Amino acid sequence: QTLKKYKNETYLDFSDPTNDKAQKKALEEVRSDFGQEYDLYINGEFVKGDAGTFESKNPSNLSETIGTFQMASKDQAFDALDKAWDAFESWQYVSAEKRAEYLFKAADVVRRRRLEINAWMISEAGKSYLEADADTCEAIDFIEYYAHEALRIDDGMDVLSETWGDYNKTIYMPIGAGVSISPWNFPFAIFVGMAVAPIAVGNTVVAKPAPDTPRMGSILTEIFEEVGLPKGVFNFVTGGDIEVGENLAKHPNTRFISFTGSKAVGLHLNKIAAEVADGQKFLKRMVCELGGKNATVVDADADIEKASTEIVKGAFGFQGQKCSASSRVIAHQDIYDELLEKVAEKTKALSIGDAKENHIAGPVINQKAVDKIMSYIEIGKKEGRLVAGGKRAETENEGYYIEPTVFADISEDDRIAQEEIFGPVTAFIKAKDTDDALRIANGVDYGLTGAYFSQDPKKIDRALREYRVGNLYINRKCTGALVGAQPFGGFKLSGTDAKAGGRDYLKYFLEPKSTTLRP
Ligand code: SER
Repeated sequence: QTLKKYKNETYLDFSDPTNDKAQKKALEEVRSDFGQEYDLYINGEFVKGDAGTFESKNPSNLSETIGTFQMASKDQAFDALDKAWDAFESWQYVSAEKRAEYLFKAADVVRRRRLEINAWMISEAGKSYLEADADTCEAIDFIEYYAHEALRIDDGMDVLSETWGDYNKTIYMPIGAGVSISPWNFPFAIFVGMAVAPIAVGNTVVAKPAPDTPRMGSILTEIFEEVGLPKGVFNFVTGGDIEVGENLAKHPNTRFISFTGSKAVGLHLNKIAAEVADGQKFLKRMVCELGGKNATVVDADADIEKASTEIVKGAFGFQGQKCSASSRVIAHQDIYDELLEKVAEKTKALSIGDAKENHIAGPVINQKAVDKIMSYIEIGKKEGRLVAGGKRAETENEGYYIEPTVFADISEDDRIAQEEIFGPVTAFIKAKDTDDALRIANGVDYGLTGAYFSQDPKKIDRALREYRVGNLYINRKCTGALVGAQPFGGFKLSGTDAKAGGRDYLKYFLEPKSTTLRP
């Protein structure tokens, strides 16, 4: 069978009534499945948790329960890791072609279930239709891209220079069984990407979804069950962050820790990874993608209309709950007022409400997020001038709604200009000139994404060199990296810059072995 060329999945256009209707129908269908119980998946078996159960709620409407999930005990988490090692014995030697075959089949199942998966995500995470569809498409992209990459790596094992007749070659070996701890904000794409990448190159995984979005993780379990992935290669363990996540990170046999989430948790796990536990026989691999305090820089000569539209998308897409979100706008003093006015106007026009009705501004994820975001809004009111939003939003349902919020006249060292809020809040900072703007943009602990607006090729060149972020976008928003096209990961305290969806990523789950053959 010939391999199709990798290409990004295209999003559905929900302004087309046919797609809108189809998505609404899928939403009705999944609603009739709300409230079911989902099990752990260890070594190909569905099992109950020894530490009880928990519920996942709809953040748009708290009276709705998405499902009941298992709390695994520490022993069950460790059992899953043991089983993953058992499975590694054979999975590591399965050919790259065979592994890719399972993955291509899995991608096809996601395509078939696309609207249903979107519907679960709209219900469990509060995404708009387009945000949910982009997430599902990204999951398909991750599966397909990593399958292609695994084939490429296998194919092109590095042949090295010949030495006096010896034949030298570097081959890439899978490293073993590890844990993936994923976030709720890309509850399908990132969960899938973090599970599939190690598996694609012959490793085995214990995957822990975020407690807010376990249903999205359980869908991958169903998919791997359907395509017949050998038992123990993928294990699904829901439960407490400490009981499951931290204990697995500490386990002497955890070969890799792949984490996407907050800086605080990531730094803690990084420390754990650095300690050699009793009986541990390797250095743990740590892959982490942490937060951001991303800025959109708008220079004096920029297209202000375009910049304002992109800022609103970058700051408020999925309620700003993206590590890539534009939570700062650094505007040249000459265009500051005009840009601010346009952004404020577009922000006020965003419709707020239940994600199932496809409002652009849906709920934030949970009460803890509401408390944190509202406390930053109070800080912002002291540090600057509120120009849009600033309150909990009134809606029909009881849900976690907050108005998209814009602050003006924030100083570069203010707390809302430095700390990650992870919500629908952005802060305008005035810059004197290009130098000043780039200096302010770089003046944070993070270095994940950034956007720069200008029409001047010389200034653009400068930004390309001097703006210190892992993903830099010129004249567009700073969110929405595409797998295979915009490998994603950040500098500084934003993580290991492993570049998910890029050519470097799979090497984090491989070790190069240099071999010499003397005929
Ligand atoms: N990859 C996402 C983006 O680019 C964030 O995780 O927006």
